[in-house]
Amino acid sequence: MAGIDYLERIPNNVNLAENRRLQRALEEWQPRFLEWWNDMGPTGFQTKDVYLRTAVSVDAQGWAKFDYVQMPEYRWGIFLAEPEPARVIGFGDHKGVPAWQEVPGEYRGTLRRLIVTQGDTEPASVEQQRHLGRTCPSLYDLRNIFQVNVEEGRHLWAMVYLLDAHFGRDGREEAEALLQRRSGDRDRPRILGAFNEPTPDWLSFFMFAFFTDRDGKYQLASLAESGFDPLSRTCRFMLTEEAHHMFVGETGVGRIVQRTCELMRKHKTDDVRAFGGIDLATIQRYINFHCSVSLDLFGSEVSTNAANFYTMGLKARFEETKKHDDHVLKDATYPVLELDGERVVTREEPALVSLNERLRDDYIADCARGLQRWNETIKRHGIDFALALPHRGFHRAIGTFSEAKIAPDGRVISEAEWDVRRHDWLPTTEDQLFVQSLMQPVIEPGKFANWIAPPPRGINGKPLDFEYVRLG
Ligand SMILES: [Fe+2]
Ligand SMILES: [Fe+2]
Repeated sequence: MAGIDYLERIPNNVNLAENRRLQRALEEWQPRFLEWWNDMGPTGFQTKDVYLRTAVSVDAQGWAKFDYVQMPEYRWGIFLAEPEPARVIGFGDHKGVPAWQEVPGEYRGTLRRLIVTQGDTEPASVEQQRHLGRTCPSLYDLRNIFQVNVEEGRHLWAMVYLLDAHFGRDGREEAEALLQRRSGDRDRPRILGAFNEPTPDWLSFFMFAFFTDRDGKYQLASLAESGFDPLSRTCRFMLTEEAHHMFVGETGVGRIVQRTCELMRKHKTDDVRAFGGIDLATIQRYINFHCSVSLDLFGSEVSTNAANFYTMGLKARFEETKKHDDHVLKDATYPVLELDGERVVTREEPALVSLNERLRDDYIADCARGLQRWNETIKRHGIDFALALPHRGFHRAIGTFSEAKIAPDGRVISEAEWDVRRHDWLPTTEDQLFVQSLMQPVIEPGKFANWIAPPPRGINGKPLDFEYVRLG
């Protein structure tokens, strides 16, 4: 089972050839996916050889094979993690019963919605990033964004497989609709807000990969615990791909911070814009923006939907199986930060309805570890500045904090103060224009744009001046 059959038209490790109906449905969807990829995937590099990794098996060692591939030739397919023998549902009302191999009828609609919502984010991010190739800071970075893009395309395959295999006609219709919606489109936008925001420059891209892809990691991790076993196995394999996206985001921002620090020291100034760097204050504003729109993705602090997903056994907590409690949570409470008039207060809420907030807490702790590493870079340069995550209530459009204006330090402020200060806290048009002015392509092997430091090492043991994308 671990090996992936690449002789098939659709590479897979789910014995697709033995399920004619499913095979036919996916083979009909495949050319439409490719049409979408050609229309909405990366612009300008579709006929170039890119040094990409492709999964050859789903176990830890056999995972990745690196080779030159033209993106439309990438072997998108269906890869599920190995089944866990005798797996039982680990939480909720069905705790202890064997994991479902088929969709339980009563949860069909809910489960489909969960899968569609996750699936919709995958092509959305490809659409958001499609123009960035033109302004890449290096061939190394160009290859990395394309790796992320093809894998997000594969994540779409992962969700479409579940829809086609387990949801009959509704599933096929949803699979079509996933190719019809468009990021940022007024009439048929993607489902979730952050996936309709533009990603116009590489600073935004790295921030997106750090903050918004990380939301994906936490959603996938909680779906990987699902009682619906095919979803669990699908998400478990997706998480191994997601790790690279986290790497691209964290190291991308980290290298920008490093370069900024080098310029600050060299020119003895905070204002490195004159020297072609991105000042730390601007980086902080981008953090504030991308963090806040990503926090919204977790939903309301108190949510009966989240409680239902859990009691139904569909979606668990982050690392559910590692937690030591009853995994039912009916009597438990959880501290939730809420708005109470002019104040932010902590309330003990029933744990079940607080599951969104709990996942958001895990996410924020993970983000904070990344910021700490960026701050170590700043410290190493002897610079007295620390990047910070904004307060979770800052600039929120969903949940309790959307009802007020909150400063990045957590103070509830007046509309008037917000209007005066928001330009200190969120990227301004001027910031955006400046960052965009830096986005000049650097395509000579081994060369990097002035605003970003080279990484310490290349991909798959290759040197930095390796030709990661053959442009000739
Ligand atoms: Fe993804
Ligand atoms: Fe991702």
